[in-house]
Amino acid sequence: MKALVNWLDDRTGIKGLLHEALYERVPGGARWRYVWGSTLVFTFVLQVITGFMLWSAYSPSTRTAWESVYYIQNEMTLGFVIRGIHHFAAQAMVVLMAIHLVQVIIDGAYKAPREMNFWLGIVLMQIVLGLSLTGYLLPWDQKGYYATQVTTNIMSATPVAGEQVQVLAQGGTQYGHLTLTRFFAMHAGILPALLVGFLVLHIYVFRRHGLTVHDENHAPTSNFWPDQVLKDGVACLAVLAVVLLLALFKGAELSAPADPAVKFDAARPEWYFLFLFRFLRFHQVEALGLTFGAIVVPGIIMGIIAVMPLTHKFLGDLGHRLNKAFIWLLGAAVIVLTGMAFIEDSNDPGHQAALAEAHRDAGRAQELAAGPDRIPVDGAVELLRRDPFTQGPRLFAKHCASCHRYNGHNGRGELVMDEGKVAAPTAADLGNFGSRDWMASIVVDYRHHFRHLENARWFRDRVADDDSPWDSSSMADWSGYPELLKSEAYKDQIKAVAEFLYSEAQHGYVPTDEKEREEYKAPNAPDEKLVAKGRSIALEGAWTGDLEGTSCIDCHSTMGEDFAVIPEDEVDGSPTLAKYASEPWLKDFIRNPGAAHHYGDANQMPAYQSNQLTDTELDLLVRWLTHNHLPTEVEDYPDRQEELEKASGGEGGGGEADGSGDDSGEDAGDE
Ligand code: HEC
Ligand code: HEC
Repeated sequence: MKALVNWLDDRTGIKGLLHEALYERVPGGARWRYVWGSTLVFTFVLQVITGFMLWSAYSPSTRTAWESVYYIQNEMTLGFVIRGIHHFAAQAMVVLMAIHLVQVIIDGAYKAPREMNFWLGIVLMQIVLGLSLTGYLLPWDQKGYYATQVTTNIMSATPVAGEQVQVLAQGGTQYGHLTLTRFFAMHAGILPALLVGFLVLHIYVFRRHGLTVHDENHAPTSNFWPDQVLKDGVACLAVLAVVLLLALFKGAELSAPADPAVKFDAARPEWYFLFLFRFLRFHQVEALGLTFGAIVVPGIIMGIIAVMPLTHKFLGDLGHRLNKAFIWLLGAAVIVLTGMAFIEDSNDPGHQAALAEAHRDAGRAQELAAGPDRIPVDGAVELLRRDPFTQGPRLFAKHCASCHRYNGHNGRGELVMDEGKVAAPTAADLGNFGSRDWMASIVVDYRHHFRHLENARWFRDRVADDDSPWDSSSMADWSGYPELLKSEAYKDQIKAVAEFLYSEAQHGYVPTDEKEREEYKAPNAPDEKLVAKGRSIALEGAWTGDLEGTSCIDCHSTMGEDFAVIPEDEVDGSPTLAKYASEPWLKDFIRNPGAAHHYGDANQMPAYQSNQLTDTELDLLVRWLTHNHLPTEVEDYPDRQEELEKASGGEGGGGEADGSGDDSGEDAGDE
């Protein structure tokens, strides 16, 4: 062994090098306050290693970036740990860098003759921030896509050459595919190379001048090895432990695939840029323009830090004290602004709703990617675009929530507001549309089931004219005995009728693949015995007691048949309930609720022709309402009916609410 070392030393001078590296003098003894630089080098090495691992699976293009990160995150062995380490070590680096900077300034390590090294450190800091910024875009998910777009827009505010800077960073005039390739080149090539170069210089110059000793008399002078090395090692392990814990238990997020067509209101920069983001949102700062807030002010701050060695040179001790005061103030401002950003966001219902949706989309996208159809060839962005569970709520919020609600909200989890107040619904809540409860509730108490109509202006106008719609409704008349229908005697019979209607509605997931369809067991399938009993009651009037002989087909003559559009002259006055609430029924109803075989003249709902709601959209909306989509484990929006009822003054107390007829705008294309 010794011979080998000597042989090597002869040819490389390794012994001397090692000696120089390890026997650096540490006046005043080893100290914890000297560990920051080493931890930074350590995290950087960690980034290089995990970075290369990620690179071996990552594919930078708009059609493959999210897909490959999904693969790393969910399928590659230990991929999520590697990605998690890379993700959190990047954040650790920023934090450690901030601490390192503060410590350097407080200890006066920037003073002559170490100015050059201080400036090298500032350059390193810019490179690290650049690495974070470019890394954020690489997964090509909604979060990174939209947050980075904000950054490239800020670049356009650069004085004089704004446009050129933006074009350079974006890889063209458009934000998109080339931006991704360019950011990847920066992130994995140019910036790390620069970092290594400047780091070597930084360490070389540091070794030339030695440590800036905080207190010579703290302890007897020792050597770098072993005392300081031990402390550095412990600190690095501590950083590794924190990063590893975060990677394992929190994990790096992957939001939904970037979709330029879907605005992403939850976009925020990484948390350590939040202070700048918050600063830019002060009205006074906004008024002075983006260039001022995003370029001039940060530029001045960096400038003040950069000239600190000179401040000290010209003002002496006073300069040093000014420098220290400045860095403390800056630190306090950053903390306060970051805190403000967090608190304001958590109190902002709009932002919270956007976050909830982002969360739902993220979970759903990964669920679909892992589903039977996997990721479509046209890219993961199509996953959510073709998914009823994702698109249904959006279409509902856009077209239907002015009158209807879905479990009390607008489909996307938000209460519907009207001039600052919670608006009362003017049509049924479709959250349980077509379910057993929905069916039973119609049969038992029709008026109560459709009570929200009473909030509508057209309804109140008719009541005022002594022409209540309930008076002319034969259904309200038929089910106008809730006491009787709710009584113990009819409980089981109503249950059976509801089960029959529910089975006719055919709600639930139908796999597209034939083989899968055969094997698929619906979790909520109708109970066939109960259905048969319900069928004989509904179609043959097999009630007991007072209701004996009254069947539903007395009026709804097509009940129990397959759905078909009925020619106008054959309609018997009651709505067709052939496969009521099923996909074909619902599609036909939404396209033309005023058709004679639906509500006829009594209709108050706008008709949705294909210029308002395309066939694809109609299909997505209807499949969501009938639950015909890949089953999901993703947490849905919470039920807000109680909240709605409280806020809008309870049932019937609609106040000024008026979503019907006249204010439904262009959507009202009835008949
Ligand atoms: C201008 C108000 C308004 C809008 C907008 C509106 N509806 Fe309706 N809708 C009504 C009214 C009124 C009724 C009748 C009673 C009820 O269900 O409350 C109704 C009934 C329904 C029913 C119940 C059918 C039944 O008889 O069981 C469904 C389902 C429905 N609408 C779906 C939709 C969908 C889907 C949209 C959006 C594409 C929509 N509605 C938009 C007013 C509206
Ligand atoms: C006396 C005739 C009559 C009988 C009997 C009758 N219905 Fe109806 N039903 C109607 C009419 C008319 C409507 C249209 C709404 C209205 O009248 O306000 C209606 C509406 C409905 C609706 C709501 C559909 C919609 O588009 O609004 C359902 C569901 C329904 N009936 C189910 C039943 C069931 C189930 C039975 C048997 C237990 C039944 N009906 C018995 C006349 C009747």
